[in-house]
Amino acid sequence: MIPEHVTLVEVGPRDGLQNEAAPVSAAQKIELVHRLQAAGCREIEVTSFVSPKWVPQMADNAEVMAGLRRRPGVRYAVLTPNMKGLEAALASRPDEIVVFAAATEAFSQRNINCSIAESIDRFAPVVAAARAAGVKVRAAVSCTVGCPYQGAVTPDEVERVVLLLQGIGVQHMGIADTIGVGTPRAVQAVLERALKHFPLAEVSGHFHDTYGQALANIHAALQLGVHVFDASIAGLGGCPYAKGATGNVATEDVVFMLHGMGIATGIDLDALVDAGAYISGVIGRPTASRAGRALLAKRGVAVQAGAAA
Ligand code: HMG
Ligand code: MG
Repeated sequence: MIPEHVTLVEVGPRDGLQNEAAPVSAAQKIELVHRLQAAGCREIEVTSFVSPKWVPQMADNAEVMAGLRRRPGVRYAVLTPNMKGLEAALASRPDEIVVFAAATEAFSQRNINCSIAESIDRFAPVVAAARAAGVKVRAAVSCTVGCPYQGAVTPDEVERVVLLLQGIGVQHMGIADTIGVGTPRAVQAVLERALKHFPLAEVSGHFHDTYGQALANIHAALQLGVHVFDASIAGLGGCPYAKGATGNVATEDVVFMLHGMGIATGIDLDALVDAGAYISGVIGRPTASRAGRALLAKRGVAVQAGAAA
C-alpha cells in the first residue's frame, strides 16, 4: 500500500510567509519560488488573493505571480476566498486555486469572517468560475483534528464539510491539521472520511508540526496510500488565526524521510536545503528544518547565522 512516489506541494511561499513578521519583498518571494522549482518542486502554492487588511504579507500577490519565470511542468497554485479574490487570481494565470473552509464554525468565523454554510455559498461561484476557466480547484479544510477555539473535532464534523465542498465541485480535498495536535490514528481517521468521497490521488495531508507529530502523521497517511502532502520549506509559517501554530512540516525533513524509505519525490534534497537556507537568511532566523540544519552542519555552514546559500 505504501506509495512509490509522493507529490509534495510546496506551501512555504504562501503558508510559510503569510504570518511572517520580517518583511519579505516580492523579489525575495520570487527568488524563493525560483529556487524551489530549480530544486525539483513541481507544485508550488505561491500566494493568496485575500484581503490585504487581513493578511498584509500577501498584498503583493499579483506582483509575485507576474514576476515568476514559469517552468514547464510546474504547477502554480493560489488561495482565493471569494469572487473578488478569484477575479484577481485568474488575471495572474494560476494552474490551480484553493478554496479554504474549516471543520469548525469558530475557526471559519475567525479565519474568513463567515459561517461554514456562508463559506460554501461564497465558494460555489468561485469553484464554478475557476473550472469554467479551466483551472483546477483544490479545497483545504482547516482544523480537522483540533481547533484553537472549539477544542477537539470529530471525523463526523470533517466529513460534513468534505461533502459540502464535494457538492460544489471541488476536485481535490486537502485535510489540514492547522494546529498540529493530530496524532497518527486520529489523522488516519479523518483521511479515511475524505477517502470515502474522493479518489486516492485527490486527497492530501497538510500537517503543521506544532507538537512534532507531522512526520509520524505523514507516515500514517502513507499507510493508507495517500501520496500527496503539503510541506513548507525550512518549516516556515503558521496561520494568523491559529495562535501558537508553527509551520507546516519542513519540506527538507519530509524529503529526507521519503528518500530514506526509497520513495521518490523528484526533489534534489541538497538544492532544497539551499532554498531553505536562502529564505532563512532573508527572514534572519535559522531554519526550523532538522534535516536542513543537519545537512548544513555537515557542509560546515554556520546555521546560526541564518546562512544564505
Ligand atoms: P470580510 O471583511 O468579511 O470581507 O473578509 P468583505 O467582503 O466584507 O470585504 C471587506 C474588505 O476586504 C473590502 O474592502 C473588500 O473589497 C476587501 P474595503 O471596501 O473595506 O476597502 N476584500 C478583498 N480584497 C482583496 N482580495 C480579496 C478580498 N475580499 C474582500 N479576495 C475575507 C472576508 C475572506 C476577504 C477575509 O476574511 C480574508 O481575506 N481572510 C483571509 C484569511 C486567510 O488568508 N487566512 C490564512 C489562509 S488559510 C490557512 O492558512 C489554512 C491552510 O493553510 C490550511 C490549514 O493549515 O488549516 C490553508
Ligand atoms: Mg496551513
